Amino acid sequence: MSAIVVIGGQWGDEGKGRIVDLIAQKASVVARYSAGNNAGHTIINELGEFKLHLVPAGIFHRDKICVIGTGVMVDPRELLNEIDHLEQRGVVVQNRLFVSDRAQVLMPWHRAIDLADEKLRGADAIGTTGRGVGPAFQDKVGRAGIRVADLVNREELSSILSFLVPYKNAVLEKLYGEAPVSLDEVLEEYAEYGRRLSPFVADTADIVQRSVRAGETVLLEGAQGSLLDVDTGTYPYVTSSVPSSVAAGAAIGMGVGPTQISSVLGVYKAYNTRVGNGPFPTELLDETGDLLREGGPRPEYGSTTGRPRRCGWFDGVAARYTARLNGLTGAALTRLDVLDTFPTIKICTSYEVDGRTVDTMPASLHDLNAAEPQYEEVDGWNQDTSGVRHFEDLPSQAQHFVHRIQDILETPICLVSVGPERDQAISLRGIV
Ligand code: GDP
Ligand code: IMO
Ligand code: MG
Repeated sequence: MSAIVVIGGQWGDEGKGRIVDLIAQKASVVARYSAGNNAGHTIINELGEFKLHLVPAGIFHRDKICVIGTGVMVDPRELLNEIDHLEQRGVVVQNRLFVSDRAQVLMPWHRAIDLADEKLRGADAIGTTGRGVGPAFQDKVGRAGIRVADLVNREELSSILSFLVPYKNAVLEKLYGEAPVSLDEVLEEYAEYGRRLSPFVADTADIVQRSVRAGETVLLEGAQGSLLDVDTGTYPYVTSSVPSSVAAGAAIGMGVGPTQISSVLGVYKAYNTRVGNGPFPTELLDETGDLLREGGPRPEYGSTTGRPRRCGWFDGVAARYTARLNGLTGAALTRLDVLDTFPTIKICTSYEVDGRTVDTMPASLHDLNAAEPQYEEVDGWNQDTSGVRHFEDLPSQAQHFVHRIQDILETPICLVSVGPERDQAISLRGIV
């Protein structure tokens, strides 16, 4: 019996999709349990490069079942586009992909409200992906949502819309000055999405439970990162996923008990990035930051929005905080190759805030914005690591760097990734 959770330990885009794709061979089921199509997970394989937003990264392994769990916010239009795109490129999706009947559905007013909210916030905008995911999760918790089970039942959908559309139109028009939506048009469009999605709809918790009981491995693919989580992250500059994007959210979002999760693998980049606004103590606004963004294959631009990612040195204060909050049993370190050309590399080990030394993650926005990172500097290795497949073949400085990160995380590093392709990885130990 084992459910393994893979989570992002920073502000997202740590390479979760690439790691899930790599370790999916060991699993029978690969499942997403949270967030929506604000996520963008890149996978590179023999068919080319894919950016998955809702479909789990296990889809490229033909013998795996893939599940979009109860905790995911499903934009049916985007999910159908993603399925079409995968099928056009030769990936078999039918009878392998299942969507929870209890998952919530993202509606057109969520996108409109997301954009309008950002306009209202002006200079303090969150920098959302504009996909409507935040307002959709608000409606889920506010009991004003539509579930996949309702989407695939035209009468149910019509009945819910007859309340929701006038309500949301009042909000759109009176609060935001935005155009209303037409009940008839929304009903026709979404009933058609429901019709097309119905072959994929299932009780996904039951699928996962059966697999776990049969002694198989289930991989639970996290989205976003712990520093974007509404409870643990840099609030309010966070995402609004409920359940949470930290490991504990996997139990709720998938429908397994916490006792059924055997391992939690935290994915960390060898430095830090962030898209969108909000505090980022180690951010580099100079050419070192530009080099982190542009250096190495696959430069740092958002997989969902294409925005340049803000870049900075590895933040050990934030990393240890998220390692502990997720109860990590192992970690994967990605994009080590991006550091190949740096003569020296910095690791933040504490902050100085208003003259005080702080080595735990501050909650206060003021403290986070005022935090001056205190760095330890280690030697770079000035060698190409992208072809290395065994830890002992890494330059000694790179080995030292990996060990330093491991000490900071207080967690064994199981995998080191040295490139975006499936085989560009070094296995140090099994996923523990
Ligand atoms: P996710 O959201 O956590 O799945 O990560 P994204 O896919 O949004 O961003 C990670 C980016 O890094 C993608 O462009 C990957 O192809 C790329 N990538 C993953 N691992 C490595 C690595 O070890 N080295 C390099 N250079 N790129 C990597
Ligand atoms: P993956 O799974 C990086 C960020 C947005 C913004 C904030 C709120 O690919 O790691 P939202 O649209 O969710 O309301 O935006 O959260 N964000 C992500 N950043 N990777 C993601 O997912 C993200 N999902 C949301 O940029 O700062
Ligand atoms: Mg991403």
